[in-house]
Amino acid sequence: MSVDTARILPLRNGAGTNPKIVAKNIQKYFGNVLAMEDISCSINEREFVAIIGPSGCGKSTFLYLIAGFEKASHGELLINNVPITGPGPDRGIVFQEFVLFPWLTVLRNVTLGLDIKGVQRQEAEERARKWIRLTGLSGFEDAYPSTLSGGMKQRVAIARALTYDPEVLLLDEPFGALDVQTKNYMIQDLQNLWLEANRTIVMITHSVSEAVQLADRVLVLSSRPSRIIADVAIKLPHPRDLRDPLLRRHEDEITAILSAEVDKAMSLERQASAKAERRGS
Ligand SMILES: Nc1ncnc2c1ncn2[C@@H]1O[C@H](COP(=O)(O)OP(=O)(O)OP(=O)(O)O)[C@@H](O)[C@H]1O
Ligand SMILES: [Mg+2]
Repeated sequence: MSVDTARILPLRNGAGTNPKIVAKNIQKYFGNVLAMEDISCSINEREFVAIIGPSGCGKSTFLYLIAGFEKASHGELLINNVPITGPGPDRGIVFQEFVLFPWLTVLRNVTLGLDIKGVQRQEAEERARKWIRLTGLSGFEDAYPSTLSGGMKQRVAIARALTYDPEVLLLDEPFGALDVQTKNYMIQDLQNLWLEANRTIVMITHSVSEAVQLADRVLVLSSRPSRIIADVAIKLPHPRDLRDPLLRRHEDEITAILSAEVDKAMSLERQASAKAERRGS
């Protein structure tokens, strides 16, 4: 399903046409719980894909599968045409809850992945300082996480993922814990970083406006067990103006799809609990 794009503008970022990540009929069970029913999609190199869906539908699970932290129960998941069998340096992840090591400085938190990889200290620090600067953290290299605000901690987590220099950046609700002001700055930062770094980005978000502002494509998931119920291409150049009527139309369309899905899930849940009550009485 896609919005009728009356005017298709050239993309400044130029997503490629080679598939970077391919999911074929992915199904994921946790014990008896079916989290993902049947997910198939292809994400191209340098594409920015946002994933949106009701709470608990399996968004983080999908990201963990791509990161290689979880294994699919059925189906095939490929990166560069090769099956994903575990984590790798080609993928960097920023978790839903920012994970920093409190006993390490900002610089050490950012170089950590490179230290583990065995990259020379001088090179590791040079790469880390570049991303510390680009994420607006210059001057805080020697600070400890406890002295940083939530937004700054999140920037450290993003700088760490980028310093690791992954081909694919996986972001799980990176702005979830931030106030509106900081979030708006971070959205602009991420947009600039993406334009500069030219990576493939998969970002989970609960915010439709965040998704349409940043992504080339928005995948909408159903409630659990998840399926893709819409794949909306946002063919607008970057940086984007949220007041653009075409962007607003995309936002309205995706919001309507999501609302209908949540309503459907709620009504099914109510029917199920009423049935259970009748059985119990
Ligand atoms: N390690 C696990 N063990 C058992 N069940 C799990 C595990 N991880 C996730 N689940 C279940 O799988 C489903 C999907 O979880 P997931 O965290 O992927 O949802 P989500 O879409 O990211 O939710 P949210 O929007 O709240 O972050 C949920 O029902 C959850 O309880
Ligand atoms: Mg999640």
